[in-house]
Amino acid sequence: MTTHHTRTVYIATIFSALGGLLFGYDTGVISSALLYLKTDFHLSSGSEELVVSAVLIGAIIGALIGGALADKLGRRRTIIACAALFILAAIETAFAYSITQLIIGRIITGIAVGVASLASPLYISEIAPPNIRGKLVGFNQLAVTSGILFAFIVSYGFSFTVGNWRWMFLFATVPAFVLGVGMYFLPPSPRWLMRQGKNKDAKKILESLRGTNDVDQELNDIRHAITQQSSGIKAIFKPNIRPLLFIGIALSIIQQITGINTIIYYAPTIFQMAVFHVKSQAIMATVFVGITNVAFTILSLLIIDRLGRRKLLLISVGGMIIALILLATAFLLPALKADIGIIAVLALLLYVAFFAIGLGPVFWLLITELYPLEIRGKCMSVASLFNWLFNLIIGSTLLTIVHSISLSGTFWLYAGISVFSWFYILKYVPETKGKSLEALQKELTA
Ligand code: BGC
Repeated sequence: MTTHHTRTVYIATIFSALGGLLFGYDTGVISSALLYLKTDFHLSSGSEELVVSAVLIGAIIGALIGGALADKLGRRRTIIACAALFILAAIETAFAYSITQLIIGRIITGIAVGVASLASPLYISEIAPPNIRGKLVGFNQLAVTSGILFAFIVSYGFSFTVGNWRWMFLFATVPAFVLGVGMYFLPPSPRWLMRQGKNKDAKKILESLRGTNDVDQELNDIRHAITQQSSGIKAIFKPNIRPLLFIGIALSIIQQITGINTIIYYAPTIFQMAVFHVKSQAIMATVFVGITNVAFTILSLLIIDRLGRRKLLLISVGGMIIALILLATAFLLPALKADIGIIAVLALLLYVAFFAIGLGPVFWLLITELYPLEIRGKCMSVASLFNWLFNLIIGSTLLTIVHSISLSGTFWLYAGISVFSWFYILKYVPETKGKSLEALQKELTA
């Protein structure tokens, strides 16, 4: 197996990761846009919740259809279709003059987010040489976190003005356009081509991606992997696939129920409760959350192929447990208010840092590595569907949970869930670093 690669691999990674950027931006932008939408549309609290969750509802639909689309149309064409949908949806939302129009625009945006959330990492994983696959797929998560940070910065900028939410939504057309045009000029996944029986095209593309003619071994491995599997929906429930599907679903749920989006979506509110009472200060502190998220994702990319996925996950969830206990304790002791504020902010940053180093990127990477080529798209659909579903559930129940068991209680709950998650990972998650997707297929489905 050649581990050579060319600049094309990096260029293709960067362009397709724009799908991740849009995922981050479009999920992050709503909390600040909401401040202005509330007054412009006189939103009731019910419709406010709907405006916030519309993108997640769309993403659930997108995840559901994304895998089948990526298998049928191909990874590259699916991403191009996504780019077109992102543009349409951004225009629809930016020019919305009724709540219905707004919500429809956000649901369509969500569909594009859901499809892109699996199609971009899938494409990158299938063009990457095994020795840097973690770093390259992780690049997509770096784009997600950059998109979120960008949304935070935009909202900080707008917090001093009357605010123009239309521009916030319209901005997404720029990366979406670059994504669509970029992907048009990039090659399809050679693995998908082989599955379509287009062996000659696959060979040519693999040669150009690896920068050598010595790709026969890799092609043979892919060919062999294809002939061993059936691709029907029933295939994902076969006894040798079921445990892998379960690991994908479990990690997907773990990524959400350990509470990350409580912080990503509600950081300004939590900061306001903890220490900063001025709105712009709270949003500024939120920008630091975004920067921490990006910085530690970069660190993760630098070590993921050496340290391995499992170790990184265990370090990540272990650190999150400590940060959550700190948070829970800080919010338990209102008597020491000023100091608690600082401890709470630092613990929050620590929590985000530990998420970013492992659980953030590794989940989206592992679901591209665990499954055989023939059913990779379908299994990724199922796993990411649960991710978006639990994202929606956690986001929409947070305030109710905080009201009934307090903020401290909520962090204790996340800490408890994280302890269970740590042991689950220790027992069930396999190591996938350094091996080709085909070698993994052989090993994991044996
Ligand atoms: C998760 C998102 C989360 C983001 C934060 C992603 O891996 O799937 O739900 O908002 O990381 O960086």
